[in-house]
Amino acid sequence: MSAHTALILLPVPAEIKLTDEKFPVKNLTGYSIAEEFHAVIPELERVFRTLRMEVAAESSGGAFSLSKSDLPAGAWQMDITADGITAAAGDITGAFYAVGALTQMLFAATISGLPGDALDGAEIFDKPRFAVRSFHLDCARHFQEKEFIKRFLHLLSACRINTFHWHLTDGQGWRYQSKAADRMNGKGELTDGQYTQEDIRQINALAKTLGITIIPEVDVPGHSRRLLANYPELACDPDDPGNEICLGKPESMQFLQAVFGELMELFPDSPVIHIGGDEAATAHWEKCPHCRKAMEEKKCANMRELENLFMVELSRFITAGGRTPIIWGTCSGQTYPDDTMIQVWLDIREPLKIAPNGNKMIYSVHSSLYFDYPANLSEPWETWMFELSEKGVYMTDPYIIWQDKVKDHIIGTEACLWTETIPQHRVFAKLFPRILAYSECAWSLPEKKSFQNFSARRELLEAAGFTDYLKQN
Ligand code: ACM
Ligand code: ZN
Repeated sequence: MSAHTALILLPVPAEIKLTDEKFPVKNLTGYSIAEEFHAVIPELERVFRTLRMEVAAESSGGAFSLSKSDLPAGAWQMDITADGITAAAGDITGAFYAVGALTQMLFAATISGLPGDALDGAEIFDKPRFAVRSFHLDCARHFQEKEFIKRFLHLLSACRINTFHWHLTDGQGWRYQSKAADRMNGKGELTDGQYTQEDIRQINALAKTLGITIIPEVDVPGHSRRLLANYPELACDPDDPGNEICLGKPESMQFLQAVFGELMELFPDSPVIHIGGDEAATAHWEKCPHCRKAMEEKKCANMRELENLFMVELSRFITAGGRTPIIWGTCSGQTYPDDTMIQVWLDIREPLKIAPNGNKMIYSVHSSLYFDYPANLSEPWETWMFELSEKGVYMTDPYIIWQDKVKDHIIGTEACLWTETIPQHRVFAKLFPRILAYSECAWSLPEKKSFQNFSARRELLEAAGFTDYLKQN
């Protein structure tokens, strides 16, 4: 490899100083990792195994050392000299990212497969642009098995994505075993499958190890056809249950509080709980005597206002449980208490309307962050989709509206993979290579970004076998 090995790094780091020292890869025979970061050891050993390197753990010292410092969340630093590689991080995510960076440089250094390969000298300091770097996966339409979710979490960590938004229910499926909704145990429509509570515990444990926060979602009051097929008494018309939970029957909120109470117990490490709020139609509510009565009693001008009150009540339940509620944004003028987060997905101008209310936002506007959309038109697509190329993802900036009062409310970004058309075996094909472009968008400063430079790094990492290594997790 002719380029400096530190110039391969993807996402591009905040600060790099290159030197002309060289550290021969064959000298990497021992490593030591700070006690609090021992969770990275299996990942490190996997790298060494893959590259056929014989490297032994040492109690201290070693040519690669990773220590604990007071760096902020996710940040890491690394000095590569002729004598060795010294890295530091402030938390476990930063520790994984340092190991990830070393991995990329080792793959790059050994691309020719010749003895004598070396890492080039550098002083690197890196920190994330956004606190929340999230990826969403819809397991409701097509189900993904527990072991697949684990692979997915490893991939997220390798791409410096620190949040997993797990879309657990939708009109086509209810994908976790619930005591509060025990009639939902069974099959989904497009594929079978449901996570047991033990599966969820295992996935929570892995996420915690990797420093990934899970945002679990139960999407209500719309997108609930399968729920209502099993709980018709919660629909406006039990003979024609439809897709929307009745807003007027007191049983609806009682049921949902039991469901979300259980969800908070199932995800004890999740500070943010997604309550859905996506795309509910008002037709059933308009015809329903319970909904009409509630609308009058609550002095709502229309069903959208009643829906807003219903979701505010649910959001208060989440807050009372000590968590932060998040809801899909709509363009219908609904407002929420300022401690409810809004996920912006429909319109790039939505943040302009939301920011004055004080809500924090996660930016996931579909036209640049929905990974179910085709990367090029050789892939199948549906009428609601746009073409979303790797370049299109790369150009995304959550600060598309660069007004300070708006920017200050956008705490991060999320890419979404909806799975109406994506069975499990196609998920990785939809992710690659665009997830690498997303990784750089969520992590790196815009002034460090260049698509041409990114493409060269991405292609080299692919040629070096790193991309296949990521997929094999
Ligand atoms: C959405 O894509 N309907 C949130
Ligand atoms: Zn109703």
